[in-house]
Amino acid sequence: MSSLFDVVRLGNLELKNRFVMAPVKTAYGNPKGEVNELHLKFYEKLAKGGLSLIITEPVAVLKSGREHPKQLCIDEEHCVSELRKITDVIHKNGSLACLNINHAGRAANPKASGQPPLAPSAITCPATAQTPQELTKDQIKEIIKAFGQATRKAKEAGFDAVELQAGMGYLIAQFLKDRTNKRNDEYGKDKSLFAKEVFEEVFSNASGMSIIVRISANEFVDGGITPEDNKVIFELAENYGAVAIHAGLGNACDTPPWYYSATFTPEDKQIEMFKKVKSLTKLPLIVDGRMANKQKMEAALKDGWADLIGLGKSLACDQEIVKKLQEGKDDEVYYCGGCLQGCLLKVKAGVGLGCIINPFVNRDRFEKSDKKLKFVVVGGGPAGMAAATYAAMKGYDTVLFEKKKLGGQFNLAVKPPFKESMQRPLDSMIKELNRYGVKVRYEEANYDKIKEENPDVVVIATGATSSIPNIDGIENEYVIDAFSYFENTKPPKGKRALVLGVGLIGREAMEDLLVKKGFEEVVGIDILKELPADFTLARLSSNPKVKIITGAKLERFTENGAIINKDTKEENIGKFDTIITSIGTKPNKDLYEFLKDKFDNIKLIGDANNIGDIYQATHDAYDVIAKY
Ligand SMILES: Cc1cc2nc3c(=O)[nH]c(=O)nc-3n(C[C@H](O)[C@H](O)[C@H](O)COP(=O)(O)O)c2cc1C
Ligand code: SF4
Repeated sequence: MSSLFDVVRLGNLELKNRFVMAPVKTAYGNPKGEVNELHLKFYEKLAKGGLSLIITEPVAVLKSGREHPKQLCIDEEHCVSELRKITDVIHKNGSLACLNINHAGRAANPKASGQPPLAPSAITCPATAQTPQELTKDQIKEIIKAFGQATRKAKEAGFDAVELQAGMGYLIAQFLKDRTNKRNDEYGKDKSLFAKEVFEEVFSNASGMSIIVRISANEFVDGGITPEDNKVIFELAENYGAVAIHAGLGNACDTPPWYYSATFTPEDKQIEMFKKVKSLTKLPLIVDGRMANKQKMEAALKDGWADLIGLGKSLACDQEIVKKLQEGKDDEVYYCGGCLQGCLLKVKAGVGLGCIINPFVNRDRFEKSDKKLKFVVVGGGPAGMAAATYAAMKGYDTVLFEKKKLGGQFNLAVKPPFKESMQRPLDSMIKELNRYGVKVRYEEANYDKIKEENPDVVVIATGATSSIPNIDGIENEYVIDAFSYFENTKPPKGKRALVLGVGLIGREAMEDLLVKKGFEEVVGIDILKELPADFTLARLSSNPKVKIITGAKLERFTENGAIINKDTKEENIGKFDTIITSIGTKPNKDLYEFLKDKFDNIKLIGDANNIGDIYQATHDAYDVIAKY
């Protein structure tokens, strides 16, 4: 029977196991595409973590196809020596390196390319709201040639393989279907002509290097690519001698939730699509999308719908998954919860790929210190747990006070619809805290108790409290603050709800009211004119039971309804059965204020210092512990 740790041969590549890193943009670089310490540490850690093959972040074969201003490059000759640094670090640490080459077409980002996107036809990419210019024939020829040049340069840079991006909604896929290719020339009449010419160019420049072909098994959009539509790509791949097909799902423009394997995309559909792909190609199949689950991986091999396991964001969560699984340390894996906040959102924001529970993504974990220090941490939420764990990682004697339950507000993050998998990273944090031997005192901390521990450093991570804002007439309404709502201490009533504040928690409350509590109408109001985008907001915005009012302030509640002020005009938005407030969160600083003059080394972190998210909390903890 096949095992996850079999040695596998793909063409002339010998893989030491079945684990492959899927292409993930890191946003660690700069507009020149140069490699820096962040890339090198990230890929070094991945290679040390036991992956057999690392598909590095995608590069655009020409500037016009760039997706991110901080993406690596291949379009100029200097890119070769830059990428060589990455292949060196990957090889030195025991993995093989593969370069994903792409042209994003209509999904390209003008901020990265310095020009409007180019595509087969001028059809807007919904995810970026950019309408591309139609490619001229000369431009098409130039791109085809650039795919060949990128392959040649990949070989010169020391890559063992190239992954040709022929799916996921990028340029090759855009040529394949009517909905994105309305051309009347030969590239419109024969929708696969562009793909054929790219394959020819890539394989004639490969000089024996192995080529993997990346596809989307199903784009899940009307008129989009289905498993059967990929047959033309499979034939090309087989005829030219590609060594594997690598399947993801969705496409970058129309169906990002599938592309990123968001938690609300059904896994049974995913597996059904991979099974179809498997039945349509003779080539070995790599699959990705929430595969960091041993049962699922083993089922994939046993049931025959995959030959190799691709891992994407879960490697931001834990770069050593493969090594840990191989050593039977399944319990030590840091499991991804699918929130996308530390990885995707930080890449989009240009901060760089991270993870809410792993501030060590592109830096070393703390080493044991020679110093002997005693830490007392107060508060067992994400910031406090992280600070205690990292202090203990450095070998410091660490006591954590928690009056209720470890996890703090992380316990609420698992409550909204589609967020159940957030229990996995929370459990991982708790297990690590225990593994490092943090002593947890389940009681409320006070001066005497802290003093009795005789600490060298006190870290206060007492979190935040959600409170009811002071609005005229609110005392006559049925009001629940967002934390109490998710703690279930006060149930919502009726069918029409108003949510004040459409930030992360407000959105989750809105969705919870609709999905779990059967509300018929939910109105959200926020003072911001433009709300930061995420998948929850996208789902809410397309739900007819939802109304989101932005750039507006709730003035008062009256007998006849809630009065808002938008664009200096007052409007009555009617009566509500339940009001949820997610705007009155305040840092819990009282203990810190009381203790700050009583201990020499006392630090305030997490929400107690500055209201933020779990990412902010764990990274605050890192910053504080790094100083000792
Ligand atoms: C931040 C981020 C960037 C990604 N960039 C790419 C990309 O450029 N090309 C691509 O084919 N897939 C990309 N993906 C998709 C992953 O390769 C993978 O298919 C997807 O995340 C599902 O697998 P996972 O659940 O293991 O992350 C990206 C995913 C993430 C989270
Ligand atoms: S930030 Fe969330 S989705 Fe991204 S790797 Fe971490 S746990 Fe997974």
